[in-house]
Amino acid sequence: MLQAHRGAVLHFLQDPDVAPAEDAWAHYPDGLLVTEGDRVHSVGPASSLLASLPADCPVRRHDNALLLPGFIDTHIHLPQMEMVGAHGEQLLEWLEKYVFPAEAKFADAAYAGAVSERFLDELLRNGTTTAMVFGSVHAVSVEVFFQACERRGLRMIAGKAMMDRHCPDTVRDSAGSAYRDSKRLIQDWHGRGRLRYAVTPRFAPTSSPEQLALAGQLLREHPGVYLQTHMSENLDEVAWVGRLFPEAPHYLGAYDAAGLLGRRSVFAHCIHLTDGEWTRLADSASNIAFCPTSNLFLGSGLFSLRCARKHGIHVGLGTDIGGGTSFSLLQTLNEAYKVLQLRGERLSPLKAFYLATLGGARTLDLEDTLGNFMPGKEADFIVVDTACTPLLAFRLQHCRDLAETLFVLSTLGDDRAIRETWSGGRRVHHRDAPATRPDSM
Ligand code: GUN
Ligand code: FE
Repeated sequence: MLQAHRGAVLHFLQDPDVAPAEDAWAHYPDGLLVTEGDRVHSVGPASSLLASLPADCPVRRHDNALLLPGFIDTHIHLPQMEMVGAHGEQLLEWLEKYVFPAEAKFADAAYAGAVSERFLDELLRNGTTTAMVFGSVHAVSVEVFFQACERRGLRMIAGKAMMDRHCPDTVRDSAGSAYRDSKRLIQDWHGRGRLRYAVTPRFAPTSSPEQLALAGQLLREHPGVYLQTHMSENLDEVAWVGRLFPEAPHYLGAYDAAGLLGRRSVFAHCIHLTDGEWTRLADSASNIAFCPTSNLFLGSGLFSLRCARKHGIHVGLGTDIGGGTSFSLLQTLNEAYKVLQLRGERLSPLKAFYLATLGGARTLDLEDTLGNFMPGKEADFIVVDTACTPLLAFRLQHCRDLAETLFVLSTLGDDRAIRETWSGGRRVHHRDAPATRPDSM
């Protein structure tokens, strides 16, 4: 069954920093996005595509709107939704004071399930259709999260945090239990519908070398499974890893020795990297999640997109809730721009929206499935409202071209700008018809 959406359409075919404009993106001011079931059927200018549609094909009009591929969040924590905006600390103290107590509550399946629903509501309200998600250490937190995603038909990647040292007992596993729990979750969930599993050692300080080695064993035993972790976010953390892994040449070396690098590996932050780490990330085709709101909030430092580009490393955006302060990838782009300003680097508006869509899909090795409107890809897209607030509507009237419009959208836009979110060809969020779920927490 075909369904057509008419409005302005933008999607990316290449990285705008690498390919010439005519190859990097396609923009149809009066465009048509045609879906067939859960897939993209075709995309192009309405003037040429409308005539080819069967007479009974429904056409929805999206006025004052821009249709974009669904946003992709390459790094976020389910159990930290309740402690976003925790005041006063940098990474290591913040983990002890706020994060570990919050995550301990996810031993309770009912609690984790209720938060999972709220978390997915929030992702969809912000136009995020795919995310790479940290659960808590408790396998049940990921179990109930996957159940909630499956009910909604969403494409998500998640894993239970592995952490067997330097943390309270309430959030500690052991090397062996983490291996067994992760393995069972992989067997139950990896590849089930649109769900994928990520082996998830929290970061080097909270995993023993034995646990990291078992994480590598899981990756070898289950090809196609992902790896997500944190790296080189904070200078105290980097110094601590140096003491904990004296044989490793650098922070990345601790992960490398365990066999954790590769095209399905995503390292969050990567702020304080040595040349050797940049080179090794590139050689191993590993990926980076850039988390600007978190890096500013926790005072961690300024990521260099220029270095990543120089080394040809795929970069996606991460909200890093709850170190990050917004579920909105528009607001994440807003802060990304400022981080790069402080570094003396420049983020072009087209590159920014590439990062939020196709760049994210590449970071998650999902380029064949997601990220743009090539025929056959999954029909995950959003309807961005270009008149959602008086200021945005007024400001956009004064934009001269696409780049300026996109830049202002990312500067002034947030969840209010997401009118509709579609996943697998079905509408999963409609801003003007909010869910009526009772407020239970
Ligand atoms: N490093 C280890 N754990 C975390 C976490 O939960 N959030 C962030 N931002 N960094 C981490
Ligand atoms: Fe994080």
